Amino acid sequence: MRILCVVGARPNFIKIAPIMKACKASKIIEPLLVHTGQHYNRRMSDLFFHQLGIPKPDINLEVGSASHAVQTAEIMKAFEPVVLNYNPEAVLVVGDVNSTIACGLVAVKLGIKLIHVEAGLRSIDRSMPEEINRLLTDSISDFLFCTEQSGVDNLIREGIPKEKIFLVGNVMIDTLLKNKIKAEGSNILNQLNLNRNGYAALTLHRPANVDNPVVFGRILDALEVIQKDIPIIFPIHPRTHWNLASFHLDKRLEELPNLQLIDPLGYLDFLKLMASARLVLTDSGGIQEETTILKVPCLTLRKNTERPITVEIGSNQVVGTKTENIISAYKKIINGNWRESQIPPLWDGNAAERIVSLLIKNI
Ligand code: UD1
Ligand code: UDP
Repeated sequence: MRILCVVGARPNFIKIAPIMKACKASKIIEPLLVHTGQHYNRRMSDLFFHQLGIPKPDINLEVGSASHAVQTAEIMKAFEPVVLNYNPEAVLVVGDVNSTIACGLVAVKLGIKLIHVEAGLRSIDRSMPEEINRLLTDSISDFLFCTEQSGVDNLIREGIPKEKIFLVGNVMIDTLLKNKIKAEGSNILNQLNLNRNGYAALTLHRPANVDNPVVFGRILDALEVIQKDIPIIFPIHPRTHWNLASFHLDKRLEELPNLQLIDPLGYLDFLKLMASARLVLTDSGGIQEETTILKVPCLTLRKNTERPITVEIGSNQVVGTKTENIISAYKKIINGNWRESQIPPLWDGNAAERIVSLLIKNI
């Protein structure tokens, strides 16, 4: 049973690793890997293939960066002949990036079954490009694999037949649990001169935060205060890097002595950095889930989350982007005022195996 598995951006690589492995181990599914090339820098792409043992892509569409319309269209144009050539039983997409919807749309228009891993998540905020990608991909998928019950509930509410929906757990957590011990061997704390529990880790890349100089400035105001108290390590996403320069905020950041700006980290170093942090500040989707498993307090610098379980029982708090709210949430954590997280159901390291068994049974 041939399945074309699609990846494009950083979080996709982390999600596909256990799926490729479980497909191969089944000896029934033949997974072929298609990289759209949405992310292409070594530190945003190749490094993850090496560290996570993901096989070299069978096909690389090499689309690169562009506007939403151009990028989506280029992926579709390049992916259609690949599907025609390989004639798979199904196409599998993960997450909510432009590569997800672009390849999903190509598959269904060619009458090929579509599998969506991480289906049903909703921020209920249609200004997020990812929310549009999630809604559209789910509405055309044949198999919808959910990480949490809210995903199942959202899909049922939207009228997706329940026979198509499966609660299977979280493939991103499969990867984390598999690599946790390996990551302990990372040397990143020594390299950055950090003590366990003695710093905050920060990531930012949501357009609503970093494409808007006013919002970005408000977040920097909070970081300026926090870094007086605790060192902040900021592996910077390329989108954020380019915007810092174009908004002339780079000088401001350089003047914060206790904030260390570094290149994006490979998976193992970043896992070690998160696991040993006093807290994490982020607008990432996946990091909200990873910090829940690691039981590290996470402040999500957004108005909403599509991953409510991380707030309900995990270590996540959605604090928005107002300077004073970020600072007061930070202070509560430092004063020991936060709840230890519980592990969400089925986030046990076996989600990919469940997906593969269900596919073998149902396709
Ligand atoms: C994309 C996803 C987002 C996901 C994020 C993960 C969409 C709409 N967005 O956002 O959901 O959370 O990936 O990191 O699909 N760039 C480089 N080198 C690279 C990749 C990007 O320099 O290897 C720069 C380019 O200037 C590019 C910009 O980053 O224009 C944004 O890249 P893009 O893939 O369009 O969106 P992300 O912000 O990375
Ligand atoms: N990540 C990483 N290095 C970094 C920052 C993040 O390996 O410097 C990992 C992180 O552990 C998680 C994934 O990248 O597994 C999250 O990707 P990102 O935040 O880019 O995307 P999102 O989850 O928001 O879509």
